[in-house]
Amino acid sequence: MCSEHPAALVQAQEWGTAGCATAVAHPNIALIKYWGKRDEHLVLPRVDSLSMTLDVFPTTTRVHLAPEAGHDTVVLDGRQAEGEALRRVVAFLDLVRERAGVADRAVVHSENTVPTGAGLASSASGFAALAVAAAAAYGLDLDATALSRLARRGSGSASRSIFGGFAVWHAGLDAGSAAAADLSSHAEPVPAADLDPALVVAVVDAGPKAVSSRVAMRRTVDTSPLYEPWAVSSKDDLVEMRAALLAGDIEAVGEIAERNALGMHATMLAARPAVRYLSPATLTVLDSVLRLRRDGVPAYATMDAGPNVKVLCRRADADRVAEAVRDAAPGGSVLVAAPGPGARLLRGDGR
Ligand code: ADP
Ligand code: DP6
Ligand code: CO
Repeated sequence: MCSEHPAALVQAQEWGTAGCATAVAHPNIALIKYWGKRDEHLVLPRVDSLSMTLDVFPTTTRVHLAPEAGHDTVVLDGRQAEGEALRRVVAFLDLVRERAGVADRAVVHSENTVPTGAGLASSASGFAALAVAAAAAYGLDLDATALSRLARRGSGSASRSIFGGFAVWHAGLDAGSAAAADLSSHAEPVPAADLDPALVVAVVDAGPKAVSSRVAMRRTVDTSPLYEPWAVSSKDDLVEMRAALLAGDIEAVGEIAERNALGMHATMLAARPAVRYLSPATLTVLDSVLRLRRDGVPAYATMDAGPNVKVLCRRADADRVAEAVRDAAPGGSVLVAAPGPGARLLRGDGR
């Protein structure tokens, strides 16, 4: 809650001059990966990507305007942010301020329930929640498409967490002006048959990665001879993925997602110097997924910029998959996620 007087806050938000807003967003896991930018400043990706927003690990972010303050204050998980983490949020707020025509600095409080920087998409839930809260606090009235575009500027993957369930993020127009590219690069919901999917999340290491997604993808694009072939094959993967989702074919969805992710990791391994996020524990979990398949359980793995594994399966199989993964990674923690909601503003009373 922003205010000790929630009723006053709700009323103020209706006037669009709240000065204070709180939002919640969930991480999303890509089944077709975003890896590589064609424009660093605008955060325009090289490829389209497609994801599932989770119903676990919400981030809650409150933005409070501080007209008297000379600088922004950002508190992340109870600790004052500094360095790159602070710089990213301030740059994002600058963008919002410019659009709103309001120069006020802000105080941002954000709580992740997902481990930060571990390849579990904290930047997605983090910047989606910040986009929704900051837009409201600065009095911008944006629809979901515009919020997706805005969230993208904080972290590319955040564009997809504005939406619930399955979402595709369009790379956007390649020819023409920067403004046209910016306008056309946003996420939107993807039509899917009722798959009743689960993502079993195996957290084998909750610690922060040594190399951020941003730096790793830049190095991959700049130096990896495998990058271009992967980007080309990713286009076909997306076409096939859309068809598999429409058909409700979870085996096909899983197969395409797994090969797309392994291909992405191959591009990083071939970068110079190599970027390797997969650890021995990751491979042990991957072996358990192979065993599940051999035993007739459709289960497919995907990994992001970190060692943690997400296993796509039917919800009806999720307990069995979780048990197999738990046995494979005894030191880790395992939880079962389902498709979750898009980012939303909390009312003044916290509901
Ligand atoms: P991840 O795999 O967790 O998405 P990234 O390397 O993409 O890892 O991004 C991690 C960075 O995202 C953090 O170091 C921080 O700068 C930013 N971040 C994470 N959570 C938040 C948040 N709730 N609010 C603002 N920034 C955040
Ligand atoms: C491997 O969105 O975290 O998770 O745009 O630089 O903030 P920035 O990168 P980020 O990259 C996510 C990469 C990925 C794949 C994905 O989520 O699509
Ligand atoms: Co990220």
